[in-house]
Amino acid sequence: MDIETFFQNQNNKKQLKILTCGSVDDGKSTLIGRLLFDSKNIYSDQLSQTKIESEKYGTQGKQIDLALLIDGLQAEREQGITIDVAYRYFETEKCKFIIADTPGHEEYTRNMVTGASNSDVGIILVDATKGILDQTKRHTFILSLLGIENIIVAVNKMDLINYDEKKFKDIIASFKNFAREFNFNLQKFIPISALVGDNVFQKNKNISWYNGKSLIDELEEISLKEPLEEEIFSLPVQFVNRLSSDFRGYSGTITSGKIKVNDEVQVFSSKEKIKIIKILTPKGESDFAVKGQAVTLTLDKEVDISRGDLLCSVKNHNYFLSDQFASHIIWMNKEQMIPERNYIFKFINFQTIGKITDLVHKININSFEKIASKFLNLNEIGYTKVALNKNTIFNPYKNNKKLGSFVIIDQFNNQTVGAGVIEYELRRASNISWHQMSINKNLRSSINGQKPCVLWFTGLSGSGKSTIANIIEQKLHKLGKHTYLLDGDNVRHGLNKDLGFTDVDRVENIRRISEVSRLMVDAGLITIVSFISPFKSERKMARELVDSDEFIEIYVNTSIEECEKRDPKGLYKKARSGKLKNFTGIDSNYEIPSSPEIILETKIKSAEELADEVILYLKQYNKI
Ligand code: ADX
Repeated sequence: MDIETFFQNQNNKKQLKILTCGSVDDGKSTLIGRLLFDSKNIYSDQLSQTKIESEKYGTQGKQIDLALLIDGLQAEREQGITIDVAYRYFETEKCKFIIADTPGHEEYTRNMVTGASNSDVGIILVDATKGILDQTKRHTFILSLLGIENIIVAVNKMDLINYDEKKFKDIIASFKNFAREFNFNLQKFIPISALVGDNVFQKNKNISWYNGKSLIDELEEISLKEPLEEEIFSLPVQFVNRLSSDFRGYSGTITSGKIKVNDEVQVFSSKEKIKIIKILTPKGESDFAVKGQAVTLTLDKEVDISRGDLLCSVKNHNYFLSDQFASHIIWMNKEQMIPERNYIFKFINFQTIGKITDLVHKININSFEKIASKFLNLNEIGYTKVALNKNTIFNPYKNNKKLGSFVIIDQFNNQTVGAGVIEYELRRASNISWHQMSINKNLRSSINGQKPCVLWFTGLSGSGKSTIANIIEQKLHKLGKHTYLLDGDNVRHGLNKDLGFTDVDRVENIRRISEVSRLMVDAGLITIVSFISPFKSERKMARELVDSDEFIEIYVNTSIEECEKRDPKGLYKKARSGKLKNFTGIDSNYEIPSSPEIILETKIKSAEELADEVILYLKQYNKI
């Protein structure tokens, strides 16, 4: 074969992305090491290094420990576990393979999700000596949720059970039993020993009762079919490139389909049709481009496209523009997911604030039962409804993985706390529009010579919020100002009577009061809110519902010791004796405001003096 034919063949080789998943000790690293070793994709220096390390850390006596080829990090070698997604490459004559090696233990579900969303095939490793574990079920479920159609169940360590056919068949039966509703396109079962090499590359006489193919033969034969919708061209615009006054290009990665120069496409939001003039790729100009390529397109006329918009085929398609959808979510954070709390929702080329409005159910990972719950814990999967602050362009995940998935990010520390796949669009509020009324808040409030605002008091129970708030209202009343005082204890007698003191209920408590205070500001009132409001996330939400100069956060700074000493309602005593659960400052969290407009120090000043401070502030800022 001449060198050109060789490279031609290389370019035309099928490429398969594999995800290996299994529990910590199922032998994943050994299997990947075996695949690299038997396919002769290991350099001799790597091999000799592994031999040296095998003597130091190995688990195979004097033999080479193939797992050490894979467990890249020193720390994880010493602990004997894999702790991040690592990608490995190897190839055979027929096929190129990319393997995502993801950690098996429970807290690293997020890495597995990262690996799974890019893979064509999932290899689920089962330790023959242990059979099906919870982890096996969790991984199978995630593979199915993330739309992986091909799975191979590799029952490993067959050498340790003397290649027992019955035990293998029992494992298959129990796998099929729990996975019967998952609808994988291809589901194969192979008895292997990654350590010895049985049935990985070579079929082995030790397992003469097995008539199927070896793992590598099975992988090579998997055919990849593109979902129908993937044929339709889509390019979420990530960047509008204005290199010079006469150049305007639209950049992004093609998420489905292909395009050629002169093709007609449309801007999704305006439905305007345009023709493609040039396709620029990192390697230069090209006549065409396909799914997965990063491109910059120039068009035959100037159109209004901005980041977050979509260029797509003129043909029919399933994209939709909406601010609400139903989705499955995997929660990845130690702090619970709480419905109605604001998070950042990040899509392929767009991000916005949004919230999970309903947790319809969560899923029991062992029985796959749907269970009612008010929140999700770390690693739990739930079926939810999501509402965003802005319209976004989507396509259900089953049609387009890139446009149908998102991650959820904490607003305060920017950590990824969850990931989701979109099932379908919801149109609940899309037929409701906002009426502009003739009398607005400025006209309403001008009658009393005041500017509406929210005086938002936060602090521990017994800190003095209500006492000070009450004095302020009296003073404003005397000045002829129009006010309303919303007090936690009082509102919990009516509007919020159904709420208790769990985190979930407190979030809902503050959400309702934030909405009420927004209405009251719109009514032109100086609105005084006195709630513990322990979480910064919901105080931020309340702040963002009104104009930025209308929200005055007042932290009533009284230490827990002082509150407990005062204990006006005897609640601290009850909480200390265990008769009152979830009490703020004792067994429920209070997050101190980081930059409130006003801090009131109750230890050094009287309630009367502190009320005067707030009145002075209102005068200084021309509210009264
Ligand atoms: S918040 O946390 O949801 O903002 P809110 O201000 O409405 O609380 O209610 C607090 C009041 O409820 C307290 O002043 C106290 O009188 C009463 N209360 C009863 N149980 C609790 C509890 N477990 N934690 C805090 N306050 C409680």
